[in-house]
Amino acid sequence: MKNRIHFNICAGQFQKKAELLSSIEKESLSVGYYNLPNQNIDDILSYAEAFDKNIENIVVLGIGGSSLGSKAIYQFLKPVKAPSRKLFFFESTDPLNIMDLLSKIDLEKSHFLVISKSGTTVETISIFKYLYAKLDIASKYTFITDKESALDKFANEIGAKRFYLPDNVGGRFSVLSVVGLLPLALCGVDIKELLNGANRVKESFFNDGYLKESLLNKAIFYAKYHTTYNINCLFAYSETLRYFVEWYVQLWGESLGKRQRHSAFHVGVTPIGLIGPKDQHSFLQLIVEGTRDKSVTFIKIEDFENELKVPDLPLAHLESLDVLNGITFHDLITMQSDSVIEALLEQGDIPLDEIIIERVDELSIGELIYYYELLTSLVGQLIDVDTYNQPGVESGKIILKEKLQKN
Ligand code: PA5
Repeated sequence: MKNRIHFNICAGQFQKKAELLSSIEKESLSVGYYNLPNQNIDDILSYAEAFDKNIENIVVLGIGGSSLGSKAIYQFLKPVKAPSRKLFFFESTDPLNIMDLLSKIDLEKSHFLVISKSGTTVETISIFKYLYAKLDIASKYTFITDKESALDKFANEIGAKRFYLPDNVGGRFSVLSVVGLLPLALCGVDIKELLNGANRVKESFFNDGYLKESLLNKAIFYAKYHTTYNINCLFAYSETLRYFVEWYVQLWGESLGKRQRHSAFHVGVTPIGLIGPKDQHSFLQLIVEGTRDKSVTFIKIEDFENELKVPDLPLAHLESLDVLNGITFHDLITMQSDSVIEALLEQGDIPLDEIIIERVDELSIGELIYYYELLTSLVGQLIDVDTYNQPGVESGKIILKEKLQKN
């Protein structure tokens, strides 16, 4: 993974960098996600290894941090590595979506992972109730939750298998824990490689490697200009990254949009997830000519490992597009992203950087995930928010519970 930064990083920030590094090092002693790349995964691997070979579908019941990460990784890898089982996600109380998903899975050949850290999330439990009313066989379910949660107690009562989240790992930072690893391992994803990828970034950051400077510089820049460039666009040039950018929106939004810890100010950098080239025909106009309130990060894939070509096919009246004849789609999409980057650089006042991942594999997505988790923590420190709580979403949940009680 490479990170090419095109904006002027904040010069003379040595003191700030040293302070930031030491506060992150301190934080990493108590916040659980930092050490996930080095966890022991033997129990997950042996569970996956011994899993019923007749089960064809793994069905996740979960929302937010309990589903978005595994979905991002599964969807990223799917086009290049056929999964050994299909992964489905029940994430919404939309009745049409529930019915649609149900029509796609054979209950006999499915196993259900009920994933909820708190164990009391309305979406997850309401859908679980619906399924359990149809299929009340404990062995069809595995529960992933916090030890001693209400869901843990329920699972214990029915005698179902349980896994626990490690200490102090928040929902949206939990993809590299059992929350993401178990569903992915059951579908044939190489979770060791995923953690190796994450560990590369971890080592690089904490041991003076190639990503340390760029992560620190970027975080300092985003924090310094968070009122000027209050929008961060992540523009990924591959359909495989569609759900990764969704995961990033949740990670960034729920972690960084807060009241500051030591003041009454509301802060945050709004995350926007874009996919190229599709969004060249949509949001790009707003970046090029709209208000100068956006920084943009491009994600590119160095090698698609695919030789699909535009055929050498001249078409009447379309001679001007003969330049496309014989080009690989890989080269085409790369030229498209590079052309947009060049056009934006010409504007001169849009902070840009490029992240280049090697290929579509577990190592690359592991790197990308840990890179973004670290960046989120760094920016959170600098803009003085509690990165790991989410009081803003809690208040709506409390009102919903009151409404449900009155109902
Ligand atoms: O990051 C978070 O904490 C949230 O997005 C949660 O993951 C989400 O609300 C689901 O919560 P739970 O896992 O408790 O069901």
